[in-house]
Amino acid sequence: MSEATGLVALVTGGNKGIGFEIVRGLARAGATVLLGARNAEAGEAAAGKLRGEGLDVQFLPIDVTDAASIAVAARQIENGPGRLDILVNNAAISPEHGVPPSAADVNLLRATYETNVFGLVAVTQAMLPLLRAAPKGRIVNMSTGLASLKLTSGRDAPFSFSRLLAYNSSKTAVNAVTVQFANELLDSAVKVNAANPGLCATELSDGKGRPPSEGAAVAIGLALIGEDGPTGGLFGDQGQVPW
Ligand SMILES: NC(=O)c1ccc[n+]([C@@H]2O[C@H](COP(=O)([O-])OP(=O)(O)OC[C@H]3O[C@@H](n4cnc5c(N)ncnc54)[C@H](OP(=O)(O)O)[C@@H]3O)[C@@H](O)[C@H]2O)c1
Repeated sequence: MSEATGLVALVTGGNKGIGFEIVRGLARAGATVLLGARNAEAGEAAAGKLRGEGLDVQFLPIDVTDAASIAVAARQIENGPGRLDILVNNAAISPEHGVPPSAADVNLLRATYETNVFGLVAVTQAMLPLLRAAPKGRIVNMSTGLASLKLTSGRDAPFSFSRLLAYNSSKTAVNAVTVQFANELLDSAVKVNAANPGLCATELSDGKGRPPSEGAAVAIGLALIGEDGPTGGLFGDQGQVPW
């Protein structure tokens, strides 16, 4: 029996990039994985590919900016397995193109927060009863080193070069949201952590970085942490990342 045998997981934005590799990794570990995607054709194709590898993966339609779609997805899980052991809030966008904050488009800022922050909160709220119904629910929020105020502040900071006001600040909000949910759930069996996958070669990063499967491993590790594991932290493959 593998580590995740019998567990039910949902990964939002699972049709490509790091999300797809998280779905694959959790399914390889033995979980039944619901591959969340907003585009039915892309979702079916991705799930079909993984089923072709012998993995237990089903497409679940979910657009994280659409309340009705989130509600339908939650109902489907409720009427199906009736619980959720793992939620990976992976779906995100980064529509800016390296402009300084003084020239950033406020509409892009709004759209980015709509997906990366408000969408994540809405999905988490909708799925929480199902996570509470699991013996040890796990929530993993995909963050980034670019969300870290310490790693981005000042001339000498490693990521001070990054001109992504909307994306970086939305992910700093994701870190704060992670802490808030973790605090609320301290007396429950549900653990909530944020994952920094590092720079991975996907559409979001313009193909720069390491293989997405390597970034996915960070999130998979947090999705499968034991009862003695942390909650309310941000972790990369070198351990805890400073806020
Ligand atoms: N790549 C990196 O270097 C890197 C580094 C640090 C953190 N991350 C984080 O890792 C996660 C995955 O990023 P990635 O690089 O794999 O990005 P990606 O290849 O662009 O994939 C993003 C996924 O999110 C989905 N998505 C976007 N908006 C959505 C919505 N409203 N509803 C549902 N799904 C939606 C996309 O669906 P469509 O295919 O329909 O657009 C796609 O499946 C993100 O949270 C990102 O911030 C990435």
